[in-house]
Amino acid sequence: MDNKEIVVSGIRSTGNLHLGNYFGALRNFVKMQNDYDCRFFIADLHALTTNPDPKELHTSVKSIVTEYLAAGIDPEKATIFVQSDVPEVSELYLLLNMHVGIGELMRTASFKDKARKALGIKADADNDDNIENEIIGADSNKRVNAGLLTYPTLMAVDILIQKAHKVPVGKDQEQHLELTRRFARRFNSFYNTDLFPEPENYNFGKAAVKIPGLDGSGKMGKSEGNCLYLIDEDKVLRKKVMRAVTDEGPKEPNSPVSQPVQNLFSLMELTSAPETVQQFKDAYSDCSIRYGDLKKQLAEDILNITRPIRERIMELRDNDEYIGKVLRQGAERARYYASQTLKEAREVMGIRKFY
Ligand code: TRP
Repeated sequence: MDNKEIVVSGIRSTGNLHLGNYFGALRNFVKMQNDYDCRFFIADLHALTTNPDPKELHTSVKSIVTEYLAAGIDPEKATIFVQSDVPEVSELYLLLNMHVGIGELMRTASFKDKARKALGIKADADNDDNIENEIIGADSNKRVNAGLLTYPTLMAVDILIQKAHKVPVGKDQEQHLELTRRFARRFNSFYNTDLFPEPENYNFGKAAVKIPGLDGSGKMGKSEGNCLYLIDEDKVLRKKVMRAVTDEGPKEPNSPVSQPVQNLFSLMELTSAPETVQQFKDAYSDCSIRYGDLKKQLAEDILNITRPIRERIMELRDNDEYIGKVLRQGAERARYYASQTLKEAREVMGIRKFY
């Protein structure tokens, strides 16, 4: 792994992985593992920021490792680990926080979103201005926890502690990466050091793909409840696809395509053969399309991708011995690098022993 550029990325352990995770992240991780020194982890500490049920958190960590492996991440090529297995991350998180402003954290889009959710405030521009007051005044049941605020510090540490050069993340994480670069620069200049390299976003060919949901609205996401999961059985997945929102169908040739139908075409572009996509697009243009046929085709083409992964998940998931071995080896490697960086950080900050 020497001389290769270092790549770091993580997925939060909340539930199972869905098609959005697969096309947005996992598929690219698998491609990168041959050319880079990849360190992929399960962000269980980040998951804690939304106070999950402990049992669910535990289950999810295990499912996600299994899903990483089943999707083709090879532990001989890439380092796979659980974030909390690297305690150095938690210590550097404390240290780095001393150089992070609460103002800049409060202005982060993801924080505002989550704070609004915790407080039960709808997203609209008018509320935006006084969300700070809402946060300060909130009673303890509707609190916005400090972990949520410092989420970007923790993410920056994941990246900086490994001295990563490249971070493959989707559009929604770009602001976090920008903060990471800012924190790195600030730390380096405050201590007059070059300890932390500034990581860049790694883009795959086309600009970051957005995976739509099947409910006609925005993206596929756990909190949206519109996910097709990698572990969905054939029957379940077919049913979800058949229920996808559409419209009344084109009334005249070359009608514009509505958002829900566009979403189906977008999924099809990711999963079906180009000729198949074209065939349905032509059928849309000349009004002969039958959405039922499109959905049937789409479900089969998605299953062609997810079924082999699901079968591997089934094979792996009770193999605690193998998964344990992968994670122990991964943690050992990750800690090897992390402890080095932490040592250097403590040193430049003046935390050194004279006794
Ligand atoms: N915040 C990322 C997400 O929600 C997950 C994550 C945590 C991450 N630490 C990271 C991604 C470090 C890349 C690098 O998707």
